[in-house]
Amino acid sequence: MEQVTPFLLVLSLALVAPGLFAGKCNLTGSWINDLGSNMTIWPIDKEGNFNGIYYTAVKDTPNDPKRSPLLGSQQPSEYPTFGFTVNWTFTDSVTVFTGQCFVDEDGKEILKTMWLLRSHENSIKDDWKATRVGYNNFTRIK
Ligand SMILES: *[C@@H]1O[C@H](CO)[C@@H](O)[C@H](O)[C@H]1NC(C)=O
Ligand SMILES: *[C@@H]1O[C@H](CO)[C@@H](O)[C@H](O)[C@H]1NC(C)=O
Ligand SMILES: *[C@@H]1O[C@H](CO)[C@@H](O)[C@H](O)[C@H]1NC(C)=O
Ligand SMILES: *[C@@H]1O[C@H](CO)[C@@H](O)[C@H](O)[C@H]1NC(C)=O
Repeated sequence: MEQVTPFLLVLSLALVAPGLFAGKCNLTGSWINDLGSNMTIWPIDKEGNFNGIYYTAVKDTPNDPKRSPLLGSQQPSEYPTFGFTVNWTFTDSVTVFTGQCFVDEDGKEILKTMWLLRSHENSIKDDWKATRVGYNNFTRIK
């Protein structure tokens, strides 16, 4: 009996452990954030690089959401860290995002991100006000 119990423990761990990783995060697909902006990430290549499209919906930009390309990389992991750049097509600004894909308590994938938005300034004297920072959560669009 004393020898059987550890065996059963190991067996039950082996059966349960894959369940812990059942909610693997995959960046590929469409995502929407808390501001109503969305993005679509195309399949990730062998090196971890990816392309996509970002539609911003924030008020600081023209009324209808505009489509801009994004380009990024991720680490190979079940819950990957990633970064990408958005080259805004309607203004001479650039945003870089960095984040990680998690699975929340409800089993839903969530991208936790932070970003820096670099605006174009006409003079180095205005450099101090050129960069904005923010946070966004993205959830998958089914
Ligand atoms: C992620 O999803 C895409 C599209 O559904 C699929 O082609 C790819 O194999 C998936 N990657 C992993 C690591 O599961
Ligand atoms: C993203 O937003 C644009 C503009 O509102 C919309 O046309 C597009 O269908 C949205 N994409 C997805 C995957 O929901
Ligand atoms: C970046 O955006 C500009 C327009 O502001 C466009 O001319 C250029 O082709 C874009 N670059 C890429 C790599 O999409
Ligand atoms: C992002 O999600 C976290 C929970 O994971 C929540 O506490 C936070 O308020 C959310 N932030 C935004 C900007 O929605």
